[in-house]
Parts: sequence; structure tokens; C-alpha cells
Amino acid sequence: MAQQIPYKTYEQSAEYIKTQIVDFQPYIGIVCGSGLGSLADTLERIVAVVKYEDIPGFVRSTAEGHAGQLVFGELSGKRVVCMQGRFHCYEGYTTQQATFPVRVMHLIGVRVLLITNAAGGINPAYEVGDVALISDHLSLPGIAGSNALIGPNIGEFGVRFPPISDLYTPRLRHIAARVYLTSNYLRNERKLHLREGIYAWVYGPCYESRAELRALRMLGADLVGMSTVPEAVVAKHCGMEVLAMSLVTNKCVDRREPNTIDAMVAELAGKPLEMVVEEFPHHEEVLAVAAARTLDIQDFVKAIVKEI
Ligand code: 6GU
Repeated sequence: MAQQIPYKTYEQSAEYIKTQIVDFQPYIGIVCGSGLGSLADTLERIVAVVKYEDIPGFVRSTAEGHAGQLVFGELSGKRVVCMQGRFHCYEGYTTQQATFPVRVMHLIGVRVLLITNAAGGINPAYEVGDVALISDHLSLPGIAGSNALIGPNIGEFGVRFPPISDLYTPRLRHIAARVYLTSNYLRNERKLHLREGIYAWVYGPCYESRAELRALRMLGADLVGMSTVPEAVVAKHCGMEVLAMSLVTNKCVDRREPNTIDAMVAELAGKPLEMVVEEFPHHEEVLAVAAARTLDIQDFVKAIVKEI
């Protein structure tokens, strides 16, 4: 079993951060996923910027395009902390390391966690550039034994067997839906489509195989991505309210793999081979779509934060 992080380590981390922010206590934590990192730059009043490398207990993010710092300040008049850069399990971190900042945020007073990510759209109705509120998740790694809460339970954070049926807080999803429906700017001018669906967490770093994609669809997933679920589970465990949303950066096109034998038989019989144009997910595409939607998501998040 992976090394357990003791409660004391979380406390030491929180104590260090408190020395950097003095009497500022953030109420909302925002995990900035791909494409939302710049939200932190738009805080109205930046109180402190704390680099992960300076915080005891924090590991370093290796993903590209992630700054690796906590930014404290005000957004829409609310006290927030933004995680500019997050930790993914595919980077080699354990689920506990990847979720470490969430528990530290809890210790410094954060009660609402807002998580964003870039995801593939499995639901065929979803288009690239849509945003989806996460209503529930499918955690195949979790079911198979990769859950951040595995190990001796830390009672200071929460109970041994936490129910997570309402992990993605209905109150917050209602707020987000109302904000969206009353925003002419987002709906009509920026053509932002808001969806709601089930997010499947895959460990990565490989994108899912064709067979895995079909399996995820059969299991009811609308979105697929490599983050968010560990953080959301840990947040729920320590009593936070959670709102998570995905930017659909690419559509997951479900084609059956070409059958080599059938293709060869057809070729031998002189029949033309059917050309299949494949669409694979690309990291560059994910980043480009995220960049194109950054301002819209920023505005959406700001409007939601105002109502929380
Ligand atoms: Cl994990 N899969 C696919 N197909 N597309 C994605 C993704 C995953 N994450 C972002 N876009």
C-alpha cells in the first residue's frame, strides 16, 4: 500500500499557508483545470500568491500549462483561493498526493470547492466547446481500488464510509443552471451550451481505447477525463460542497476497430477497401479548445461565485 500522509503533514501545510495570508480566510476554493488557469489572474484583489514548491507537503505539478501556485483574493466580492495547476494521478502521484491541496484548503477554511476540467464528450449530443455540469461520476479506478480515502481513516477529516450519492451538490448545480439560463451574454452572444452529465474518471495518461470508450458509453458516461474525481471525493469526505464542470474539448468518436481479416478478404476479392477517417483525441486540440473558451468559462464561474 502507498505511503499514507499523516494528519500532521496537512496541518503543517495549512499552518505555513496561514502565515502567508495572515487573517484572510478563503471560503471558496477553485481548482483551475486546463483552460481556466488565467481565472486566478483576474481576481479583484490578490492577497497572496503561494508557490507549491514553497508549501510543505505539496508536490510539484508536471503538466504543461499549469503554473503551480495558490492565488488568494476576491472574486465577485467573495474570498477565494485558486489552485493554478493541479496534480493528476497519471503524473505518478498517489491519489492522496493529488488530493493533498483539497484537504489543506479545508483546513484553512474553504467550504465550497469549484472544480473545472477539460473532458472528452462521449454523449453524442455534446459538441466541442460545450460546458457540462457534472451530476455524478463513474470511477472505475475507485471501484478497482484507487480511491484517495483508502488507508487508515483520518477522523479529523471525515467518516470511514462516506456516502457520496449527492457529491456534486444539487444546491450549487441549481445556482449554476440559474446563472446560465439568465445570462443572455453566455447563451446567445457567446453560444455557450450548458449540459449536465456523468463524468467517467480514467487514470490516463493514455486516452481510452476504442473498446474502453464503448464500455464507458454503455456504463452511462457522458464525459471522460483524467482528473476531478479524486479531488471531489476528498472534498466531500471533509464536508465541502462541490460543484464540478467540464469543458468538452473533443468528441469521442466511437468507431469499431477495422477487422483485419474482413479487410483482407475484401481486398483479395478485388473489392475496394473502405477508408475510415479516424478522429483521435490530441492534447493540442484539448488545449486549443480550452484557450478559445477561457473567457466564457471565466465569466460563468465569476457569475456562479457571486451567487454562492
Ligand atoms: Cl481522458 N479522453 C478523451 N477522449 N478526450 C479527452 C480526455 C480524455 N480528456 C480531455 N479530452
